[in-house]
Amino acid sequence: MLITLVVANQKGGVGKTTTALNLAASLSAASRKVLLVDLDSQGNSTTGIGKEKRKENNSLIDVLVKNDGLLNLVIEETRYKFDLIPASSDLISAEIELSSLKNPTAILRSKLLQVASKYDYIVIDCPPSLGMLSVSALRAASKVLIPLQCEYYSLEGLAAMNKTIKEINEATGESIEIDGILRTMYDSRIRLSREVSKELEEHFSEKLCDTVIPRNVKLAEAPSFGMPALYYEPEAKGTLAYLALAGEIINKFENNQVAI
Ligand SMILES: Nc1ncnc2c1ncn2[C@@H]1O[C@H](COP(=O)(O)OP(=O)(O)O)[C@@H](O)[C@H]1O
Ligand SMILES: [Mg+2]
Repeated sequence: MLITLVVANQKGGVGKTTTALNLAASLSAASRKVLLVDLDSQGNSTTGIGKEKRKENNSLIDVLVKNDGLLNLVIEETRYKFDLIPASSDLISAEIELSSLKNPTAILRSKLLQVASKYDYIVIDCPPSLGMLSVSALRAASKVLIPLQCEYYSLEGLAAMNKTIKEINEATGESIEIDGILRTMYDSRIRLSREVSKELEEHFSEKLCDTVIPRNVKLAEAPSFGMPALYYEPEAKGTLAYLALAGEIINKFENNQVAI
């Protein structure tokens, strides 16, 4: 059964894209059929695996606004064994394009259902805001993953995220919740990181992913070669951490799936 894994955080630079694309690679290395959806107009997930952003015609916005099918947006990604719906620059104007539609943030989910039978996982990389696209992704999610750096403001960000999800639930009748909190760019030499990590363990033990993603330069370098880290440096600590995270997700989420 399909698991739609949404990687979200309203803050930029916390490791959403790195997590989304390396998870897509790691889950497909574990023989899962994966579609990566790049919802960020910056298109870092798209270029990070060596693809180009789509031009404005025939973009995801067109598919959401018109009656077009989603399937013809999918690039069959034979090189890294997972498929991609690339970003396009017009994602930036999603608010304007979608605002005149009825129940606009429910459309993405219904479109994704068109391709659901092809995949075990749809991994969605969200933009760094909680605008219409992120809300659409959250409404399509079976599991919500929040990457965060172990910094002072991360906990505040997490509280804000929780509040927004509550508001979305109240407005839409959904029951979205955070399913995984992922510590990214972790550096155990930094005292504040250790302290914030400890605090997360105390307050969010259930939701906190056991896997911690270390700060690892190979993860930062790989996208400039258009590769997931698994193909750039398979033995790197960061690569192994994302493989471990995929294993954790498979163990935790595949055993308690709810139909979307
Ligand atoms: N674990 C990590 N170790 C080192 N650099 C990282 C790590 N995770 C992300 N980065 C780098 O940090 C920056 C922000 O990460 P990114 O995944 O693009 O965040 P977001 O999508 O949330 O904006 C990028 O330059 C990325 O390469
Ligand atoms: Mg990003």
